[in-house]
Amino acid sequence: MDHTEKMKELVNEVDQAILRYVEHGKHEKLIKAMRHYPEAGGKRMRPVMAILTAEAVGGRGKEALPFGCALEIIHNFTLVHDDVIDQDPVRRGKPAVHIAFDIPTAIIAGDALFARAYEILADIDVDGEAVRRLLRSVSNTVFLVAEGQQMDVDNEERAEVSREEYLDMVEKKTAVLFACAAEGGAIIGRGTEEQISSMKEYARLLGIGFQIWDDVLGIKGDAKKTGKPVGSDIRNGKRTLIVVDALERLEKDPRKNVLTAALGNANASDEAVHAAIQLLEDIGSIEQARQFALDYARRAKELLSCLRDCTEKEMLREMVDYAVGREI
Ligand code: IPE
Ligand code: IPE
Ligand code: MG
Ligand code: MG
Repeated sequence: MDHTEKMKELVNEVDQAILRYVEHGKHEKLIKAMRHYPEAGGKRMRPVMAILTAEAVGGRGKEALPFGCALEIIHNFTLVHDDVIDQDPVRRGKPAVHIAFDIPTAIIAGDALFARAYEILADIDVDGEAVRRLLRSVSNTVFLVAEGQQMDVDNEERAEVSREEYLDMVEKKTAVLFACAAEGGAIIGRGTEEQISSMKEYARLLGIGFQIWDDVLGIKGDAKKTGKPVGSDIRNGKRTLIVVDALERLEKDPRKNVLTAALGNANASDEAVHAAIQLLEDIGSIEQARQFALDYARRAKELLSCLRDCTEKEMLREMVDYAVGREI
């Protein structure tokens, strides 16, 4: 059975709820800046995951909607700050918040989104112990995201970054928020402890695969589809898995210059960036990253065996193929 329609409905429901959560406030410019990314769209993967998980463990998906929205608002807050950090001018095909407004407004709008998310969390309709558990999980998650983002920034300046260090960084900057979504959904749906931890692990593996795939899209993707500029990771000197692999393979290869000329060089010409990307393709580093991402996807799907057979379980499986394999 095709679940496209059901997925669209779910995304639509999430969209409307999120926009309702960020419409109140006296300062018009601040509200506009806060709504800039939520209004521009996004895949809404984290709230959808929370809702599907709650339902799949035998609970009511709707009860996880506010929690999912809170996570999506937190996700949007991290994107606003991320684009300032990465100096990326475009997100979701639109000017980034710090471009449409200015850097101070982007910083403030990010903080304000974060605050709104906590108001939603405090109101979730589950018992007190479950609310405390969710609050602990979300707070710890945001702290880990901060660590991951700091590691990502620090890595730009480092000559050598290992695969283990890369994986540690992406687990923190990206995978933990997915893990929090699935774990929270399972808690809200009153799943067993085994289901709660298996779903958390499912989403962690999906999240790592997702980020590796995102790095591939950042190099080989179509900017019109992704809504994000191609090549900015190279100019920013991001130590993606692709680059980590390439620097290792090229250690004694004179072609290494082609990569190092563009990597971390904000002024690198489009030609220089394209030459570096072609080299990454030629030596197999992009394909290697694709295979890595697919392996995480395969492992994520195995964890779904903790769930009963149901539509939501199938949709959670489809989400893995979407996260790793998508073009947007
Ligand atoms: C972008 O996340 C940031 C990463 C963790 C790679 P998404 O690709 O989920 O962004 P949207 O919400 O769909 O725009
Ligand atoms: C985004 O990572 C992770 C967070 C926002 C926490 P990236 O910087 O790799 O993602 P994009 O490519 O800008 O979406
Ligand atoms: Mg970025
Ligand atoms: Mg970043």
